[in-house]
Formats: sequence, structure tokens, C-alpha cells
Amino acid sequence: MTKFSVLTVSCAAITASLLLAGNGLAEEEYDVKAYGPKSSIIWDTPIKATFDHKIHTMDVGIECSTCHDDIFSMQRGTAINSKKFTMKAMAEGQFCGVCHNGDDAFATDSNCMGCHSAGEDPIVWNEPTKSSFSHASHVEEMEISCNDCHGEVFSMKVGSSTSNGDFTMAAFKEGKYCGACHNGDDAFDSSTQCESCHFPPEDKIVFTAPVKSVVFDHNIHVVKAELSCESCHKEVFSMKEGTISDNELSLSEDPNVKRKYLVDLHSKYCGTCHDSSQAFGYLTRCTVCHIGVKGHDQMTGGNNKDTGHGKSGH
Ligand code: HEC
Ligand code: HEC
Ligand code: HEC
Ligand code: HEC
Ligand code: HEC
Ligand code: HEC
Ligand code: HEC
Ligand code: HEC
Ligand code: HEC
Repeated sequence: MTKFSVLTVSCAAITASLLLAGNGLAEEEYDVKAYGPKSSIIWDTPIKATFDHKIHTMDVGIECSTCHDDIFSMQRGTAINSKKFTMKAMAEGQFCGVCHNGDDAFATDSNCMGCHSAGEDPIVWNEPTKSSFSHASHVEEMEISCNDCHGEVFSMKVGSSTSNGDFTMAAFKEGKYCGACHNGDDAFDSSTQCESCHFPPEDKIVFTAPVKSVVFDHNIHVVKAELSCESCHKEVFSMKEGTISDNELSLSEDPNVKRKYLVDLHSKYCGTCHDSSQAFGYLTRCTVCHIGVKGHDQMTGGNNKDTGHGKSGH
């Protein structure tokens, strides 16, 4: 077995070196003096674009002097630093647009992907919730063209959707923004698999009203208990703080009213699962959720006084 693999390896090595030698003979040496720098010139901001000398000189046969120094300086970075290196300027016949005008070479108002590729870093929004979008996966993996989004759906400026004021799930449902495709037909529905676009908070959430010591940990629920975001964020909790405290809450002195109120309060929220069926019942282990003043102080490092509600029973 060992002998066999050694043999295979050396055969492969010989074949490889023969192939390499063959290639070396067949392929013309790249002469930097004749054709310009070998490595691609890549611009990263505001969007990735690539220029190859080889294509223009060796393949197409354009002279150095056609571009240097009338159109471009022989110093990488000059065009971009001039701040004038834009698609608008190109459409007006400057820079790449001297030739890329639809006559001499493909025009700059088409074939965006001919020169651009998507940057690797995803776009991340932090407000009002945290979500992210990957150009790379949409453009490269799903082969969606720039114009499908940067016509009517999105402007080419991060933050402009946010400043429109209606960059919301409700708008997606009406077919705007991400919802133009994430409608269940063209791509998965945006009212499902929230975790594809959103991040769960890493820090524990402490409910501070009406009592300030109930702790909720996404990690336990999402990672350990493997619950989907929808199991809580479709009907029970909104994906931002304040679901419970936004309600009118009143703790009556009448024991019966109080009891009913507490049962309703618990069963409407955490109790949708913590009812002894899917998870431990809220009536059995108060202090697992109500960590108390001590627990709260330990978590926050603070020294706040509990309002005392936590001691009352059902
Ligand atoms: C089709 C246009 C075009 C042609 C033809 C062309 N270049 Fe360039 N060249 C560029 C562009 C674009 C840049 C980058 C300029 C910038 O960043 O502002 C560049 C940059 C350079 C640089 C600087 C590279 C660096 O890393 O700083 C050198 C050197 C260069 N070219 C040499 C040549 C030579 C030699 C030829 C002919 C064999 C040639 N170029 C032909 C467009 C061209
Ligand atoms: C002097 C004329 C000229 C200039 C300036 C020029 N190009 Fe080109 N370019 C051509 C020609 C001609 C072709 C080949 C014909 C075609 O593909 O339409 C070409 C082809 C290309 C291709 C196609 C490569 C392929 O895979 O077939 C890319 C990409 C490209 N150019 C990028 C650029 C970029 C980016 C710039 C500006 C930094 C630029 N070109 C400036 C003339 C030019
Ligand atoms: C011939 C090559 C070429 C083609 C085709 C092309 N671009 Fe560009 N584009 C560039 C270069 C080079 C830059 C300047 C460097 C950079 O920003 O990456 C640029 C810059 C940009 C910028 C930033 C500067 C600005 O003008 O706001 C945007 C946005 C852009 N391109 C979008 C597009 C879109 C959309 C298309 C298709 C409709 C397109 N480009 C087609 C080469 C091209
Ligand atoms: C599936 C949709 C989609 C596709 C396809 C797409 N984009 Fe975007 N693009 C976006 C979104 C969303 C934003 C952020 C807009 C916002 O925040 O309002 C964005 C932002 C941008 C920005 C601004 C970046 C910045 O830092 O300000 C540029 C430039 C851009 N896109 C270029 C392109 C180019 C070029 C292509 C094609 C190669 C492309 N996009 C394809 C959705 C898309
Ligand atoms: C296709 C991607 C995507 C999916 C799937 C998605 N969202 Fe969003 N969501 C976004 C983007 C983008 C924003 C706007 C920027 C931000 O707030 O992060 C947003 C905003 C929000 C907001 C704040 C604005 C508003 O509508 O009130 C909430 C809350 C929200 N999403 C909840 C959810 C929930 C719950 C789910 C699952 C049922 C979900 N999202 C699924 C992309 C998505
Ligand atoms: C032009 C159509 C289009 C638009 C607009 C669009 N998407 Fe997508 N998206 C797709 C398609 C197609 C897929 C792949 C099919 C699928 O997963 O259902 C996809 C897949 C995804 C995925 C899963 C793959 C990955 O990248 O991990 C995420 C997350 C996503 N989109 C987020 C978004 C967000 C956020 C927005 C809005 C900012 C958005 N998309 C806007 C078409 C679109
Ligand atoms: C077991 C229930 C549950 C699950 C599952 C769950 N969450 Fe939450 N989430 C909550 C509760 C409770 C809050 C706090 C709501 C409140 O204070 O009104 C919350 C709040 C949030 C917030 C807002 C936090 C802040 O500080 O504003 C985001 C964002 C969030 N969740 C994202 C997610 C994502 C993404 C998933 C899926 C990966 C997920 N959640 C799964 C229960 C859940
Ligand atoms: C969608 C169902 C669901 C909702 C809603 C839910 N939980 Fe849970 N929770 C679970 C499951 C499942 C477990 C793990 C099994 C268990 O411990 O019984 C769990 C575990 C826990 C634990 C860990 C118990 C331990 O032994 O360490 C705590 C604490 C907790 N939940 C608090 C809460 C609080 C507070 C809320 C409301 C803000 C809440 N949960 C809402 C399903 C849910
Ligand atoms: C699964 C988690 C969980 C368990 C178990 C639980 N609670 Fe709660 N409780 C909550 C949440 C969430 C709130 C509302 C947020 C807050 O007040 O901090 C709350 C609120 C309360 C309040 C305040 C109501 C108000 O309006 O002032 C009292 C009193 C209370 N719980 C008593 C109890 C008692 C007694 C037990 C045990 C029999 C118990 N809880 C078990 C999660 C839980």
C-alpha cells in the first residue's frame, strides 16, 4: 500500500513537471516592459474595480502612450486621489470612458460586472435593529446584476434606505427594499428565517420594568434550546426592548385581581413556553427568571434597589 502510493506520487510529479514544461513553451513570457505591470490594478473604494494591463496591451494591442500620461498617470492611485474618477466622468468620456463608450469597447452604462466585483465585507445596519447584507453572495453566488437592485430598489449609498424612514419589515411585506425579492417567490420570505439577516443580542437582557430583575438569555434559547427567532419574535416579543413595559401595567391590591393579572402577564409572554410543557413552568421556579436584587447587582455591577414586586406570589 505504502509502496503503491509512493509510486503514484512520483508518477504524478513527473506528469506535473512535463505539463509545466509544456506550458512554459506554449505560453508567451509576460514582458513587463512591453506590456506594463503584470499584477492587476485594483481599486477598493467606494467599490471594487479591476484594470488589467495584459488585456489592454498584450491582448488588445493598445500602446502605452495611448493611456500614459494623457488619460492615466503612470503612478497607481493618481486617478482615484483626484476625486474625479467616477462613473459620471466616464460617461462623459473621461478615464476608462475614453474607450469604454460602446463603440471602441463595451460601455460603462452596461456590464457593470465586467469591471466591478462585489466587496467581501457585508453591509451592516445597526439601527433600529442589527442586520446585514452581503453583496458578494447576491452578486457572485446568486448572479444578481447591480441594476436589479440599484435601479429602483436601493440607492448606491449605505444609509440612504435608513434615512428614508420606512426601511422596515412592514415595507418589505409590501414589496419594497429587500422585500422586492424576499417575498417567498424570488427568494425566501422576509417574514421567515429572521436569523439569516439579523443577529441575536449577545448580552443578557434584563427586564427593568415593572420589576427590574428578570433575566433573559438569547444564548440559552437560540443556541442551547435551538429555538427559531420566529418562535418569539413573530407574535410574543418585538425585536427591540420594551414589549412588556410598553403595556399598561398595574398591580392591584385586590389579591384576586392581582393573581389573575400575574397569571395573564406571565402566560402572555414567557409563559407561552414556560408552562411546564415546552419548558419549566413559570409557577414552579420563580427565581430562575427573577434573579433578585443580588443577582441583578452581580450582573450589572450596580447597586440598585429592587422595587420589591418580585416577592409577591401568585
Ligand atoms: C488602457 C490604458 C492603459 C494602457 C494602454 C497602459 N496603461 Fe499603465 N496604467 C493604466 C492605469 C489605469 C493605471 C493606474 C493609474 C492610476 O491608478 O491612477 C496604470 C498604471 C501604470 C503604472 C503604475 C503601476 C503602479 O503600481 O504604480 C505603470 C508602471 C504603467 N501603468 C505602465 C504601463 C506601460 C509600460 C504600458 C505600456 C506597455 C502601459 N502602462 C499601458 C492604464 C494603462
Ligand atoms: C485606450 C482605450 C481603453 C481605455 C482607456 C480603457 N480600456 Fe478597457 N478595453 C479597451 C478595449 C479596446 C477592450 C477590448 C474590447 C472590449 O472588450 O470591448 C477593453 C477591455 C476591457 C475589459 C474586458 C476584459 C475581458 O475580460 O474581456 C475590462 C474589464 C476593461 N477593459 C477595463 C477597463 C478599465 C477598468 C479601464 C479604466 C481604468 C479601462 N478598461 C480603460 C480599451 C480601453
Ligand atoms: C470599464 C469599466 C467599468 C464599467 C463597465 C463600470 N465601472 Fe463603475 N467604476 C469603474 C472604475 C475604474 C471606478 C473607479 C474606482 C472605484 O471606485 O472602484 C468606478 C467607480 C464606480 C462607482 C463609485 C464612484 C461613483 O461614480 O459613484 C460606482 C458606484 C460604480 N462604479 C458603479 C458602476 C455601475 C452601477 C456600473 C454599471 C452600470 C459600472 N460602475 C460600470 C469602472 C467601471
Ligand atoms: C441584491 C441587491 C443588490 C445588488 C445585486 C447589488 N447591490 Fe449594491 N447595495 C445594495 C444595498 C442594500 C446597499 C445599501 C443601500 C442602503 O443602505 O440604502 C448597497 C450599496 C452599494 C454601494 C454603496 C457602498 C457604500 O459604501 O456606500 C455601492 C457602491 C454598490 N452598492 C454597488 C453595487 C454594484 C456595483 C453592484 C453590482 C456589482 C451592486 N451594488 C449590486 C444592494 C445590492
Ligand atoms: C431578508 C432579510 C431579513 C429578514 C429575513 C428579516 N429581516 Fe428584519 N430587517 C432587515 C433589514 C435590512 C432591516 C432594516 C435595518 C435594520 O433595522 O437592521 C430590518 C429591520 C427590522 C426591524 C426594525 C424595523 C421594523 O420593521 O420595525 C425589526 C423589528 C425586524 N427587522 C424584525 C425581524 C423579524 C422578527 C424577522 C423574522 C420574522 C425579520 N426581521 C426578518 C432584514 C431582514
Ligand atoms: C434582486 C433580488 C433581491 C434583493 C433586492 C435582495 N435579495 Fe437577498 N437573496 C436574493 C436571492 C435570489 C437569494 C437566494 C435565494 C434564497 O436564498 O431564497 C437571496 C439570499 C439572501 C440571503 C441568504 C444568503 C446569504 O447571503 O447568506 C440573505 C441573508 C439575504 N438574501 C439578505 C438580503 C437582505 C438583507 C436584503 C435587503 C437589504 C436582500 N437580501 C435583498 C435576492 C434578493
Ligand atoms: C425564547 C424567545 C426568544 C427567541 C427564540 C429569540 N429572542 Fe430575541 N428577544 C427576546 C426577548 C424576550 C427580547 C426582549 C424584548 C423586550 O424587551 O421587549 C428580545 C430582544 C431581541 C432584540 C432587541 C434587543 C435590544 O437590546 O434591543 C433583538 C435584536 C433580538 N431579540 C434578536 C433575535 C434574533 C436574531 C433571534 C434569532 C436568532 C432571537 N432574537 C430569538 C426573546 C427571544
Ligand atoms: C418559545 C419558547 C420560549 C419562550 C417564549 C421563553 N422561553 Fe425560556 N426557555 C425555553 C426553553 C425550551 C428552555 C430550555 C428548557 C428548559 O430549561 O426548560 C428555556 C430556558 C430558560 C431559562 C434557563 C433555565 C435554566 O435551567 O437555566 C431561563 C432563565 C429562561 N428560559 C427564561 C425565560 C424568560 C425570562 C422568558 C421571557 C422573557 C423566556 N424564557 C421565554 C423556551 C422559551
Ligand atoms: C419564565 C420566567 C419567569 C418566571 C419563572 C416567573 N416570572 Fe414573574 N415575571 C417575568 C417577566 C418577564 C415579568 C415582566 C418583566 C418584569 O417585570 O421585569 C415578570 C413580572 C413579575 C411580577 C411583576 C408584575 C408587575 O406588574 O409588577 C411579579 C410580581 C412576578 N413576576 C412574580 C413572579 C412569581 C411569584 C413567580 C413564581 C411563582 C414568577 N414571577 C415566575 C418572568 C418570569
